[in-house]
Amino acid sequence: MTTVPTGDPQDAITTIKNDGDIVVSDNKLPTNMTDAGPDTFRGKVKKMANDAMANNPYFAAGGGLMLLGSGLAIARSGFLKLSRVLYTQMIVDLEIQSKDKSYAWFLTWMGRYPKRISKHLSVNTNYIQHDNGAITTKFSLVPGPGNHWIRYKGAFILIKRERSGRMIDIVNSSPYETVTLTTLYRDRHLFDDILNEAKNIALKTNEGKTVIYTSFGPEWRKFGQPKAKRALQSVVLDEGIKEKIVSDVNEFMHNGKWYSDRGIPYRRGYLLYGPPGSGKTSFIQALAGELNYNICILNLSENNLTDDRLNHLMNNMPERSILLLEDIDAAFNKRNQTDENGFHSNVTFSGLLNALDGVTSSEETITFMTTNHPEKLDAAIMRPGRIDFKVYVGNASLFQVRHMFLKFYPGEHELCEQFLSRFEKLKISVSTAQLQGLFIINKDKPIDAVEMINTLSASSTITQPHQHIL
Ligand SMILES: Nc1ncnc2c1ncn2[C@@H]1O[C@H](COP(=O)(O)OP(=O)(O)OP(=O)(O)O)[C@@H](O)[C@H]1O
Ligand SMILES: [Mg+2]
Repeated sequence: MTTVPTGDPQDAITTIKNDGDIVVSDNKLPTNMTDAGPDTFRGKVKKMANDAMANNPYFAAGGGLMLLGSGLAIARSGFLKLSRVLYTQMIVDLEIQSKDKSYAWFLTWMGRYPKRISKHLSVNTNYIQHDNGAITTKFSLVPGPGNHWIRYKGAFILIKRERSGRMIDIVNSSPYETVTLTTLYRDRHLFDDILNEAKNIALKTNEGKTVIYTSFGPEWRKFGQPKAKRALQSVVLDEGIKEKIVSDVNEFMHNGKWYSDRGIPYRRGYLLYGPPGSGKTSFIQALAGELNYNICILNLSENNLTDDRLNHLMNNMPERSILLLEDIDAAFNKRNQTDENGFHSNVTFSGLLNALDGVTSSEETITFMTTNHPEKLDAAIMRPGRIDFKVYVGNASLFQVRHMFLKFYPGEHELCEQFLSRFEKLKISVSTAQLQGLFIINKDKPIDAVEMINTLSASSTITQPHQHIL
């Protein structure tokens, strides 16, 4: 009998008997071919090693520690994976960056929110100037950099305010900041509620007020505290002028569909021209208050205002704002020309026209422009779409003198007639600002105002300049 191993010890053994029969047995190789018996050399070595491992406490502890260590490592990576899955599935973040408008709103909201745990606070100081000139200072505490917890509508929200150590906002040289709100995925709708509440608080603070924005570098910044709205009646323009402008603006604002149906940019430009102190700026501010709009003021004779900045600012206005471009004649000086007053105008004529044409906003855009020098304006700016409505706002007419007098001295009709007849005799042309000056000096003393009317002659301009030049 011949035994033929087939090569693989796991295989069955094929046995060829002497009589030629082939028997296939499922026996594996005999154990003595693989195992070292206890009496063999290999067996002895193996036994010694086993004894050493089992009886040596160092070996035993090492093995245990190794097992424990690898077990813990596996558990840890499993836990990390699980927490990552849970975090992405169950936790939701909201990041508010300091350059976003809602950033300041949120901090104010948070400062007022009662159910919060904050260990780091910052102070925001506000000066409030009252109508009588008095100033009160208000401190409000807002969450400082660090972690804060709030409980809002039953949910816990972690608020993390961070200040970037590396990135600085070049516009205001302050570090970039972010606030991150973290809560459970199921409570994510609360973010919307919080942002809306924060926005409403901000809007309420400005209710009944007009926010004035001025340019600061490439962005619009609030100029001082929001001002109490100026009543439209407090600005006295010549007969019918105010009503004409107000009805035109109202009609424009209610005709958005007409513009969009015809594919016309939804904007309207107004030009108020006339001598200084005639109430142009005051009227526009009062109109903004009447319409519940804010006002963005740009002075084109301002240093450092370039065509690019002008374009950028005009295309990035805060919502619900009237754009007021003061002294537009400044753009009609030659580039970089320095006039006798030393001012240096960088905005060019074509820059102004491009900026006016390029304003693309889905909202209505109302632009008011003012100038004391209409004769310097180029005809190209009068094109509809740039200036659609122009109004001369001149020195005080008799109509205005009467209304100004009665506004300062209500009910003094007799003295008003005296004042008017003297005014006519003097044949002077004075601005409404000069009239206001006389009435302020003689506050509550209408007789003295009548007596002092001659003082107006000194400052009068004999003719009404530029009247109806355009
Ligand atoms: N028509 C007016 N009605 C009421 N107040 C006026 C009027 N005109 C001028 N004033 C007062 O005079 C001051 C200056 O007015 P304002 O700045 O509006 O003039 P302006 O026409 O814009 O002058 P400028 O052309 O120099 O910019 C303000 O305090 C304003 O209240
Ligand atoms: Mg003005």
